[in-house]
Amino acid sequence: MLKENEKTTGKTAKLILDGQTYELPIIVGTENEHAIDISSLRNDTGHITYDPGFGNTGACSSNITFVDGENGILRYRGYPIEQLAEHGTFIETAYLLIFGELPTRSQREKFRDYLSEQELLHEDLRHHFEGFPSNGHPMAILSAVINALGCYHPDLLEITSKGEFLRAAAKIISKVRTIAAWSYRKAHGLPFIYPDPNLSYCRNFLHMMHSIPYQQFEPTDAQVRALTLFFLLHADHEQNCSCSTVRMVQSTEANMFASVSAGICALWGRLHGGANAGVVSMLEEIHEGGTSIPQYIEKVKRKECRLMGFGHRIYKSFDPRARILRKAAHDMLESTGNDDPLLDIALELAEVAMNDEYFTERKLYPNVDFYSGIILRALGIPVNMFPVMFAIGRMPGWIAHWNEANTDGIVRIHRPRQIYTGNEERSYIPIDTRL
Ligand code: ACO
Repeated sequence: MLKENEKTTGKTAKLILDGQTYELPIIVGTENEHAIDISSLRNDTGHITYDPGFGNTGACSSNITFVDGENGILRYRGYPIEQLAEHGTFIETAYLLIFGELPTRSQREKFRDYLSEQELLHEDLRHHFEGFPSNGHPMAILSAVINALGCYHPDLLEITSKGEFLRAAAKIISKVRTIAAWSYRKAHGLPFIYPDPNLSYCRNFLHMMHSIPYQQFEPTDAQVRALTLFFLLHADHEQNCSCSTVRMVQSTEANMFASVSAGICALWGRLHGGANAGVVSMLEEIHEGGTSIPQYIEKVKRKECRLMGFGHRIYKSFDPRARILRKAAHDMLESTGNDDPLLDIALELAEVAMNDEYFTERKLYPNVDFYSGIILRALGIPVNMFPVMFAIGRMPGWIAHWNEANTDGIVRIHRPRQIYTGNEERSYIPIDTRL
């Protein structure tokens, strides 16, 4: 059955199996993307589809984000990412993703104040940090503490009203900064700095990261702008691995804290949120003279490693976020007089790769992670915190998707199928007779 906003073209695709023809409806999205609806395929034919990596599979329809990878287009709720990056703030973008419309001035102020009210952690939760080893990975801490938040808000484990949804969403978006910053303070043996409600979202985070009890950290406007852009550009990217994880966990009717905590785990890997850390270690390796740019490119072409921050499952001409962050990295370094040699290496590496057939044939271009690590380094964020920064930015997107899935009226657990390739049935062998 079609959901509200889903439309068919009226046309069908024909599938011929064992001489029998099956008609499969074609559904169409707002931007004229087409999908063959196979939701009754197994019932009708006894067959499933086989699509490892889900590169051809639409798992849901969604009103939140549109990506056209062939043409390098990214829009949140219809607004081009370039316009949001030029005029918007992270909080405004979070509001847009979650509620579907840009806020009025008073809605934005109210939302901002509400987030500020939620920024403190329960003091008992503060003690959780003592239980983690000081070299504990901040992604493990973030995921664990976000999940643990649910214990402090049992009334929000089951969300049945818009008010409850807003409270849970605001708590997570606001507290994720505090948790992230405190994981850093713990790792470095620094005292926890409490959030300051008078500071904007990004300034407040940098304050909790870098202030010391007798000296407030004062970031420059260019640093705050670069961080705002970093969060805003990471705020959503439709059905990527971590978002799909959030939706999959939600499909079991799990609560929002558990679902986004699972999203954090999915984001952790090198091929997803861990890629920008991979970019920095690659650039450092080149900078430290371990290998030259042409040698590195040859190594990639021999498939001994990947060029980190290059390539994307969806973007096949350019990643619009990478263009914006490339400029932001440049502007920030220029305004702070910080001349990071890694940016020069990145620019040269990108130039060489984009003129090499290996990369152009495979449609491999710089992705958002190629430049983001340089911004984070300049903000004093250690490399193991890079995926944590991605998670803070992605939180509004995960929450918007969680809510969309929670309120679309379809209760259906996500449960892919498989082609089994193991042993055929065999009899149990008693332990004494096993070879
Ligand atoms: N460097 C070198 N070769 C690459 C790269 C790369 N970064 N990415 C893909 N390729 C090659 C593959 O070796 C393969 O070549 P082949 O056809 O000769 O076998 C071809 O391009 C297709 O590769 P796939 O892995 O099938 O591409 P896919 O779309 O599945 O992967 C991914 C996308 C995971 C992002 C990949 O490009 C990659 O590993 N990039 C590096 C890691 C990275 O930057 N990740 C960040 C992604 S953006 C994000 O999460 C925000």
